[in-house]
This record gives sequence, structure tokens and C-alpha cells, in this order.
Amino acid sequence: MDRIRIVGGQPLHGTIPISGAKNATLPLMIASLLTEEELILDNVPRLADVALLQRILGNHGVDIMTNGKRPGDSAYQGQTLKISAAHIIDTTAPYELVSKMRASFWVIAPLVARMGEARVSMPGGCAIGTRPVDLLIMALEQLGATIEIDGGYVVAKAKDGLRGGEVVFPKVTVGGTHTALMAAALANGTSVIENAAREPEIRDVADCLNKMGARISGAGTSRIIIEGVPRLKGARHSVLPDRIETGTYAMAVAMTGGDVTLQGARPDLLQAALDTLGEAGAKVSTTNAGIRIARNGAGLMPVQVTTEPFPGFPTDLQAQLMALMTRARGTSRITETIFENRFMHVQELARLGARIALDGQNATIEGVDVLKGAPVMATDLRASVSLVIAALAAEGETMVNRVYHLDRGFERLEDKLSACGADITRIAG
Ligand code: UD1
Repeated sequence: MDRIRIVGGQPLHGTIPISGAKNATLPLMIASLLTEEELILDNVPRLADVALLQRILGNHGVDIMTNGKRPGDSAYQGQTLKISAAHIIDTTAPYELVSKMRASFWVIAPLVARMGEARVSMPGGCAIGTRPVDLLIMALEQLGATIEIDGGYVVAKAKDGLRGGEVVFPKVTVGGTHTALMAAALANGTSVIENAAREPEIRDVADCLNKMGARISGAGTSRIIIEGVPRLKGARHSVLPDRIETGTYAMAVAMTGGDVTLQGARPDLLQAALDTLGEAGAKVSTTNAGIRIARNGAGLMPVQVTTEPFPGFPTDLQAQLMALMTRARGTSRITETIFENRFMHVQELARLGARIALDGQNATIEGVDVLKGAPVMATDLRASVSLVIAALAAEGETMVNRVYHLDRGFERLEDKLSACGADITRIAG
């Protein structure tokens, strides 16, 4: 298993290109199941989760061609996927595949919408507390599917097709909203989703579905209206930039000091996090190239943050912010409201000398003057990158073990950081 070795203390200077968003790419690839025609996706990041979803879709009979590099492409240019679900040969998504990545459960919506049935294993994914699928099932039922649970599988059926309906989510769910959106796109009649997730990735998927011939309005707001159509066609769509990758590197720069342009980043996708960074003492500005983030020698100020659905501060940046606040001048408080048990990074940060107290969903972080390198273990995707951020500012060497978690969501992380002056190397093993 690969490890990453970091020697802290170097400020970051230069440019970091931001990749396409993982959390848009996955549902966009899944949306290809809705049509017999070809869906072309540009700016797709090279990530382990994308490769895994390629395998999962392949199991359903989906054909995916990946364009190689063309002359003049930069090292970080996203890939182009040409996806064809002309012939779906299997409507079952098995446990061995779905258990590796929670989002693959979402295939249930396009499969039942187009094929009239789907049999999908209950998901696995990040070890961050209970992550049920009850609301996704509720959405499918509201749109006319019958659901049975059989041997760990969710079996959805709609022999005569789905029908338009009203889906009112009792809590905001990104996966639930993607599910309802894809199912309603091919349902007979009009559907309304109330209390829909407003995450930018929902809007990106809706934009792509509209290019495919869907009739969706209101995506990006909490009320989405979908007029179902009998069939969808092929389209070409470019994935929006990754706001979590953007926020992660912005926090790395705030941590180490320096001056970095996050190329291709869009401030409107993470305003809450940029505001927090500003409060903490980083200088954030927008340029034609993207977002510029800088911090000179001044100390970091503590902050009080609560994670919320978009447009609030994202749970996917909570661990990274906590790493940053370990070096603030004073006491910070972070409240996690989206997931239970999303504080697994706390113990590992403590190994570097962080002082963090947990009380239920609240973390209190006492800033310290010095962090010291140590061996640490990556536990999940976002937690592992928080260890990288802490290590970049720690004295001496940190070895991050189990970095396959990082490879699920960050493209060439060590290359992007070392190009800006960080002392970071991957050790194959
Ligand atoms: C997506 C993101 C993930 C992000 C999360 C919240 C992708 C691939 N993943 O995950 O990175 O951290 O949104 O922004 O886009 N819930 C239920 N019942 C359900 C579904 C969800 O109770 O049926 C709960 C969850 O346990 C959680 C909350 O709703 O407490 C939000 O989860 P959700 O928005 O669905 O997260 P994901 O779509 O899994």
C-alpha cells in the first residue's frame, strides 16, 4: 500500500490546477444509463472512484471509452469519457462492487426508470457513521416504484414505467435529490421535489440531463420541477470544477503561508468556506485564472463554524478546517450537523500535537504553536487530506499511511503540492 511522506515547514507558491468535481462526475456517469445514445463527459478527473464506477457500469453492459492524452494537453487536463449504455445486459448491482462506493447505489434510479426494474445492494463507502438510503427509497416509491428488500438488496420495480409525483424530503439529501431527479426525468407526468439539495453538483447534473432532452427547472434551488419525457438522447457535457479540492488547497495555503492561484476554481461554488478563510486571516481574491489565496507571516485567527447543506460550510471541508485551526491563535469551535461520527481525523491530528476536545457533534480546538511530524493513518477521504494539511505545517517528517483513501478523491495530490514547493513524496509499497 502506498504511503505519503511529508516534511513540513515549506510555504506554498505557484499555481494549482483544479480538477473536475468527483461528486458531479459520479452522478453524471450514472445518468448515462438513462439513454441508449452516447453521453460524452469532458473534464473528468483521474480518480480511483471514477475507475471503480467504470467497472460498476461495465457490469451493467455500459461501454466506456477514455480518450488518451492529445499533444498540447497539460498533465492535469481532465479526461474525456464516451459512455454508451445502448444495451443494458444486467440490472443487478452486486454487493462486491456497491459496497466499495456508496454513490454507486444511485444506479437504482436510472435502471428502474429505463428498464422497469433494478436490484441494487445496500451501499458501503466511507466509514462516517450510519448512511441510510431510506430517503432514496422513499423518493422512488413516490414516483411509482414498488420496493422490496431481499437478501441485502433493494429491489425496485415499475413494470409500466415510473409516474410523476411529489417528493418532499424531510431532510436535505444530495443522493436523494440525484435519485429523484434521474427517476423523474423519464417518469410519465410532472414531478416536484421539495426541500431538494442545492449543491452545485445537482445543478450540473440537471444541466446535463436538460442537454439530453430532459425538462428540469429550478435545480440549484430547494424546489425542482421535472416534466417527464419518454426518452432521453445523447449529449456532451463538461464537469464543473471541484469545490472540495479547491477548498482543500486553499486551506493548505492558509496553513503553510504563501501565495497560490487555484486555476479554474469558481468562488461561487464555495463562498462560505472562502469567507471562513478570510476570517481566519487568509487573503482571498478572484482573478481571471481562478481564485488566489495568500497568507503572509501573520498568525491564524480562530473561527466558529457549523457544517450545513449548500450554500453553508460543507461537511466535506470540515476535517481540513479543523487541521487548519490546530495552529490558530486561540480556541475554535466546529459543529458537524450532516454526518455522525465524522471526527475520525481528531485522534490522528492529536498524534501531531493538536489539542482537540470532542463533545457529541462539537469539536473544540485549542490552537498550538507547533505541530510535530509523526506516522498517521488515513481513515477516510476527507480525513486523510486533513492529515496532509497538518503535516505540511508540522516540524519534521509525517508519514501518511493508507493513502488509497486520498486517491479516491484527489487527483495527483502530491504532484500538485510539490509543484508549489511542498516537500511531499509518494512511496510505493
Ligand atoms: C453526498 C456527497 C458527500 C457529501 C454529502 C453531504 C457525493 C458522491 N457524495 O453524499 O461527499 O459529504 O453529500 O454534502 O456527492 N440521509 C438519510 N437517509 C437517506 C439519505 C441520506 O438519513 O436516505 C442522511 C445522511 O445520513 C446524512 C444526510 O442525510 O446525515 C446527508 O446525506 P446525503 O446528502 O444524502 O449524502 P450523500 O449523497 O451520501
